Amino acid sequence: MNVYDAIVSRRTIRKFRQTPIPEDVLKKMINAARLAPQASNLQPIKYIVVDDKDLLEPVFATTKWAAYIAPEGTPKPGERPVAYVVILVDLEIRNSGYDTDAGAAVENLILAGVGEGIGSCWIGSVDRDRLRELLGIPERYIIHSIVALGYPAESPVAVEAKGCIKYYKDETGTLHVPKRPLEEVMFRNRALPPQG
Ligand SMILES: Cc1cc2nc3c(=O)[nH]c(=O)nc-3n(C[C@H](O)[C@H](O)[C@H](O)COP(=O)(O)O)c2cc1C
Repeated sequence: MNVYDAIVSRRTIRKFRQTPIPEDVLKKMINAARLAPQASNLQPIKYIVVDDKDLLEPVFATTKWAAYIAPEGTPKPGERPVAYVVILVDLEIRNSGYDTDAGAAVENLILAGVGEGIGSCWIGSVDRDRLRELLGIPERYIIHSIVALGYPAESPVAVEAKGCIKYYKDETGTLHVPKRPLEEVMFRNRALPPQG
């Protein structure tokens, strides 16, 4: 799969098959993240892979899913993630402005996953205090976000947004994700519309 096809076909996945992800695939995804562009090349991001069976449910309990369609988008038992990557920022390397670094790293991780058939949900809605305690994460690290992983058990589709950008499920249970059309977001030279 070429890069563009991976980007276009990627959709957030919130239902997973219960097949474990091989170690080499997880390593490939973290490797892709580690090689992302980083401001001043500081590379403050660290990654904890969580795939211990005893930790999966407690980590799941720290997460919130698909707010626009809650509780319908929350994975049920038997369709929950089989691994998580906890995205940390090492404050001793960088203590402000790290959000873009994390963003670039996570997108690389997710797209490398697409190339390996792995589905993911990037999750910002995390009970960080609980997760910190659960995994024994020292104060030196900020918990930026987590990425839930597994082989997809659903096939969401991107659709053109007609005003509303809230994702929704149709009568068959397929998730539709409205994306703003190209002509609404792409401009040339001095052609930006006036405000309002
Ligand atoms: C920074 C960030 C945080 C997110 N946090 C959550 C979250 O807490 N829970 C969730 O279910 N999805 C979360 N998402 C996934 C978005 O809902 C999803 O990307 C968006 O609906 C667009 O769908 P798509 O990824 O299929 O294009 C997050 C995405 C990003 C980029």
